[in-house]
Amino acid sequence: MATQTIPSKPFEGQKPGTSGLRKKTRDFMVPGYLENFVQSVLNAIDGATDKTFVLGGDGRYFNAEAIQTILKMAAANGAKHVIVGQNGLLSTPAASHVIRKYKADGGFILSASHNPGGIDADFGLKFNGENGGPAPEALTTKMLAQSEAISEYLISDGADIDLSALGSHTLDGMSVEIIDPVSDYAELMGTLFDFNAIKSLFATGFRMRFDAMHAVTGPYAKSILEDTLGAPEGTVINGVPSVDFGKGHPDPNPVWAKELMAEMMGDNAPDFGAASDGDGDRNMIVGAGLYVTPSDSLAVLAANAHLAPGYKGGIAGVARSMPTSAASDRVAEKLGVASFETPTGWKFFGNLLDAGKVTICGEESAGTGSDHVREKDGLWAVLLWLNILAVRKQSVGDMMADHWQTYGRDYYSRHDYEALPTDVANAVMEDLKSDLDGLAGRKVGAITVSKADNFSYDDPVDGSTSPNQGIRIFFESGARAVFRLSGTGTEGATLRVYLQHYVDGEGALFEEPQAALAPIIAAAHQIAGLSRLDRDGPDVRT
Ligand code: G6P
Ligand code: ZN
Repeated sequence: MATQTIPSKPFEGQKPGTSGLRKKTRDFMVPGYLENFVQSVLNAIDGATDKTFVLGGDGRYFNAEAIQTILKMAAANGAKHVIVGQNGLLSTPAASHVIRKYKADGGFILSASHNPGGIDADFGLKFNGENGGPAPEALTTKMLAQSEAISEYLISDGADIDLSALGSHTLDGMSVEIIDPVSDYAELMGTLFDFNAIKSLFATGFRMRFDAMHAVTGPYAKSILEDTLGAPEGTVINGVPSVDFGKGHPDPNPVWAKELMAEMMGDNAPDFGAASDGDGDRNMIVGAGLYVTPSDSLAVLAANAHLAPGYKGGIAGVARSMPTSAASDRVAEKLGVASFETPTGWKFFGNLLDAGKVTICGEESAGTGSDHVREKDGLWAVLLWLNILAVRKQSVGDMMADHWQTYGRDYYSRHDYEALPTDVANAVMEDLKSDLDGLAGRKVGAITVSKADNFSYDDPVDGSTSPNQGIRIFFESGARAVFRLSGTGTEGATLRVYLQHYVDGEGALFEEPQAALAPIIAAAHQIAGLSRLDRDGPDVRT
């Protein structure tokens, strides 16, 4: 076995986006493409010599092949040890935990998250640092610079490792440990939540459906919900990971988790429904007949976290991404703890979590998590909900009603226009930016703009500034519309329009959200000139 030095030339566009490098699978399969990016990451972190890495992914097409390549490159670059999930599987939050638990120098996570998988779908790779969190912008900038200047990569010509065989292996002098992907994570969940209370809940006949969407959380959910907590077999559906996610779109929202939604909205619905995405960091929460928006879920978790053992001392603060509704701010205010508004992207929570300024974080894009790892965590959110329901002994509907009566309700929806021609989407954003100064005071239909800006974030921990994070338009009624372009799409551009309207605890709390938001939706269309998109309506409404 020997290290091979392979000459290479830069590929264009290896710029890590909101969450690592995400491209079409076939792009990643072009000889040298994956290798260049991995070498660029290793160069950006000043080499691999004597380092320990964690490696795993969501099991999508090309996952196993990419793992073999990364192992051989880690060995050739002098790494000491790599911890790999069995069969190449590790959910994103589990990978974050394993990095932290075994004090690794970082980890490679193979996933395109909620994007479809398959040879004609999407693939992705991201690097997380020793805190278990996604590489910060300063580091991803270095990776890009390395990828633009790369001239060679190093790879061992050793044999493939059997990814199904638990235990120790060796590759060209580097040790490789294949671990059970579930057990460390399950143990951590057991320290945070009152498993006995949740067991009792299931024992009383509480019915739940968890849709793993043919993705990585299947084995985690079966082990924890069914085997440990006693939920009946069949509670977890679509629980076997497949390379193309059953040809589905593993994004836990009402559009893509249709099967689950139909059951939860139907007669004889289970008490509680949940779903997670391709790599297990997102979650959807739904009660019998009631979808809980991610922004409300974050607020409910923040308000009730103290009911779970892991948070019984209370929380230090709550952070949300800017487009997420203000519901969690209201909870933080009442609890007397700090709240933070960050740009979209979990990586912006890392500093706040590391500095102990916040305990719970969340995003409108179906991500919630806490300081237990440095990623959002789908199953964690589901277990915290279960723990809260077990203690409060209320239905999801009654809990939401209580919450809204206490804090008021932020009606919320996100409208996505997908696969737009890039020039059209850019023009919408550019026009909004150039109109910004003239917007305050403008009357649009029945509502008036009070102020408008382009969100810029000053990180209170490291002092860095991230400008240009989305256009915010506030209305005198307290409503808000936000516009930004997705940083995770792989086809054309996706315009996201985030809509929010607040009603206090005495107001009309039980309207249909699209109806309650109608005046803001109309105003947002007019202000941004969305008729030029030439679409009948958004592709996705959350
Ligand atoms: C990923 C990130 C999230 C982010 C989401 C939406 O899931 O981990 O932090 O909120 O993408 O990103 P986008 O740029 O597509 O709106
Ligand atoms: Zn994900």
